[in-house]
Amino acid sequence: MRLAVTGASGKTGWRIVDEARLRGHQVVPILRPNSQLPDGLVADGLPLKRLNLADQNALVAALNGCDALLIATGARPSIDLAGPLKVDALAIRDQITACRRAGVKRVVLVSSLCSGRLFHPLNLFGLILLWKRLGEQWLEASGLSWTIVRPGGLKEAEEQLEREGIRFSGPNQQESSSIPRRLVAQVCLDALELPAAIGRILEITSGEDVPKQTLADWLIENPTSAI
Ligand SMILES: NC(=O)c1ccc[n+]([C@@H]2O[C@H](COP(=O)([O-])OP(=O)(O)OC[C@H]3O[C@@H](n4cnc5c(N)ncnc54)[C@H](OP(=O)(O)O)[C@@H]3O)[C@@H](O)[C@H]2O)c1
Repeated sequence: MRLAVTGASGKTGWRIVDEARLRGHQVVPILRPNSQLPDGLVADGLPLKRLNLADQNALVAALNGCDALLIATGARPSIDLAGPLKVDALAIRDQITACRRAGVKRVVLVSSLCSGRLFHPLNLFGLILLWKRLGEQWLEASGLSWTIVRPGGLKEAEEQLEREGIRFSGPNQQESSSIPRRLVAQVCLDALELPAAIGRILEITSGEDVPKQTLADWLIENPTSAI
């Protein structure tokens, strides 16, 4: 498949690019005009697209010919308390609109545990969990084939990940614990390849004490719709 990845300069985004390439997909990384390329993003041979997500024409042009979009954008911590509104809600709407215009039907969104929750310390940063839920809801109502991946606290660990099992659940079942970004990237790619993941909200955390289970097996055991 030809996959577009937004937020490709981010710590989860570059790993999604990396995992997609490891699985043999063609990748179109989408970045902001001034995004710094992270060390992990091996950009050689990749058709990097630098644009503002609010520039619909540029975004549609970047998405043209892609089979799916993986969204790893997220407001970076800043004093701009409107950042989460702009990035986690409005920029998601812009990306949905552009997918429709470009004919991209499949979307995987990296969101967060506790999305939609009002009383949570993370909301001190511009009510981020409420805006994330609005972005999710726009995607759910979009008519696109979507999967929402809600990870716990994200970790940079790259070592000994084979020891970790992933705890999958449906929405609003988990509220703490963490997961390495590399495993989040792998789940996003797994979800993309599994029709049963369409229309599902997947909460994920991980740990060495968690029994190993693939997303495919979890979906067979938990076939009910998320919403
Ligand atoms: N941190 C956690 O523990 C945690 C836990 C659960 C869920 N999440 C969510 O998981 C996702 C990935 O997190 P992460 O920590 O890997 O991300 P990250 O490293 O902070 O990267 C964020 C990405 O979003 C891009 N971005 C920010 N503002 C943008 C804008 N206005 N327009 C376009 N792109 C923009 C950034 O581009 P630049 O490089 O140009 O800034 C970067 O590529 C986010 O949605 C985050 O909220 C995080």
